[in-house]
Amino acid sequence: MFYEPTKRNHGLPHDPFKAIVAPRPIGWISSIDRKGSVNLAPYSYFNGVGSHPPMVMFSSEGAKDSVRNISETMEFVCNLATWDLREAMNRTSESVPHEVNEFELAGLTPVPSKLVKPPRVGESPCALECKATEIVQMKGPDGSPRDNYVTFGEVVGIHIDEKYIKNGILDAAAMKPIARLGYRDYSVVTELFQMTRPDETKRR
Ligand SMILES: Cc1cc2nc3c(=O)[nH]c(=O)nc-3n(C[C@H](O)[C@H](O)[C@H](O)COP(=O)(O)O)c2cc1C
Repeated sequence: MFYEPTKRNHGLPHDPFKAIVAPRPIGWISSIDRKGSVNLAPYSYFNGVGSHPPMVMFSSEGAKDSVRNISETMEFVCNLATWDLREAMNRTSESVPHEVNEFELAGLTPVPSKLVKPPRVGESPCALECKATEIVQMKGPDGSPRDNYVTFGEVVGIHIDEKYIKNGILDAAAMKPIARLGYRDYSVVTELFQMTRPDETKRR
């Protein structure tokens, strides 16, 4: 089949796009506004986009609380969403008034960050403290503005629960990170496999 998204002519009961760009890691974003009101929400249009220095991005469909807060304070934290935290993560996606603190809503522990003001999720095995670098309003092919906002940030501090470090390697499968697909689907990482890049073999 072939379809054009703007024509919505896929003929299926639900749009399959998110099932194709999948699985997507979940950035569980904590932020704070200029008055100190705390926010926590999951974003699966999220990824790492650089290593040296580490950079991340997430995309908000509409100017949601997270992006509004970050535009005020230019700081955020990406917490790792895991199998054990899946229900709490889902709870924090609820549309609630700006002043509602989703840490309280989901029974999560806000732990002070070291280098940024938004707290991290104490229950999460990894957290990336970030300074926002740009908030970009997306455009269509004709240059017209879209109601989508991509926040980029540089990771300035990284927390890792050391129980997941084995022989110097972070054991991702032990943390069981969850990822988002289409529809109501999620996946969970429990198995890994290794491959060696062709260039690495040549160098040996
Ligand atoms: C797993 C998951 C992933 C999500 N990813 C996104 C996303 O990438 N972009 C987005 O705009 N909303 C996304 N949402 C919806 C937001 O989490 C939801 O609108 C939330 O209320 C936004 O909170 P905020 O206004 O406090 O930032 C996602 C929800 C879930 C459960």
